[in-house]
Amino acid sequence: MAEHNNLYQRAIYYDVIFDRDVSREVEFLKAVYRQIVGRELQSVLDLACGPGYHARAFGKQGYRSVGLDLRPEMIEFAKDRADEVGAVVDWVAADMTNFRLDEPVDFAFCMFDSMDCLTANEQIINHFRAMSDNLTPHGLYLVDLNHPATCSITVYDPFCYAGQRDGISAEIRWADTPPTIDMVAGVAHTMLEMRVKDHGKELVITDQAQERLLTPPELQLLADLSGTLEVVGWYGDFDLSQPFSSSPASRRMIVIFQKRSQ
Ligand SMILES: C[S@@+](CC[C@H](N)C(=O)[O-])C[C@H]1O[C@@H](n2cnc3c(N)ncnc32)[C@H](O)[C@@H]1O
Repeated sequence: MAEHNNLYQRAIYYDVIFDRDVSREVEFLKAVYRQIVGRELQSVLDLACGPGYHARAFGKQGYRSVGLDLRPEMIEFAKDRADEVGAVVDWVAADMTNFRLDEPVDFAFCMFDSMDCLTANEQIINHFRAMSDNLTPHGLYLVDLNHPATCSITVYDPFCYAGQRDGISAEIRWADTPPTIDMVAGVAHTMLEMRVKDHGKELVITDQAQERLLTPPELQLLADLSGTLEVVGWYGDFDLSQPFSSSPASRRMIVIFQKRSQ
């Protein structure tokens, strides 16, 4: 999804469009942790959490839960929403390439294509190192990305999402104009437009972003180069029985890293 500054400073509009039920993803995270690590999950970190859907769901269920986002506006919004439903979450405004939690967590995840804002290899390696420093022994890190069949350096489908709530309606369109792709860096330069009607007021917000379009071997190599994480699993959906493959049933590219033993 990349670093769309104009969008992410308007947390309420992001939430009107993207608020969703994440219970299936939360159940998958618990199950995959149990399967790989062999014990019950106790603590989580929702990285680039935006309005904090996953952090809030875990907090509500009594897990030790942390939500981290670069944008203080998102963190403030996420905290208010969690407080409204009595979910206990630690909220942190920080850069995911350089952060230190008070205590390490068992399982961190970066959902909804949010890692694509890290465009340079060096940034990704720094991010993996920071991630590993904040994991408990044998801890896991899951990254959820668009499937390369819909988003890669040779294919970039336009996306449109819309929502409405409490007198606000909002629609966001990505890549109506095809993005410019730097084939060597593996980076798309993408335009987006958000149209909002907020209690009679109309707004059009345009933005552009750089998005890294990673391939599976690159993810593997960058983890190896970090010296701190290793790839332990691939899935094509939030379903233990769905492998990552070229079949249409494999909707997402979900990779799971594990902290290396020292
Ligand atoms: C797609 S949105 C949020 C996704 C959210 N996890 C969800 O499931 O809807 C991506 C988020 O990444 C955040 N972000 C961008 N760059 C970041 C960075 N370097 N460190 C931490 N958060 C970042 C943005 O502020 C934005 O809230």
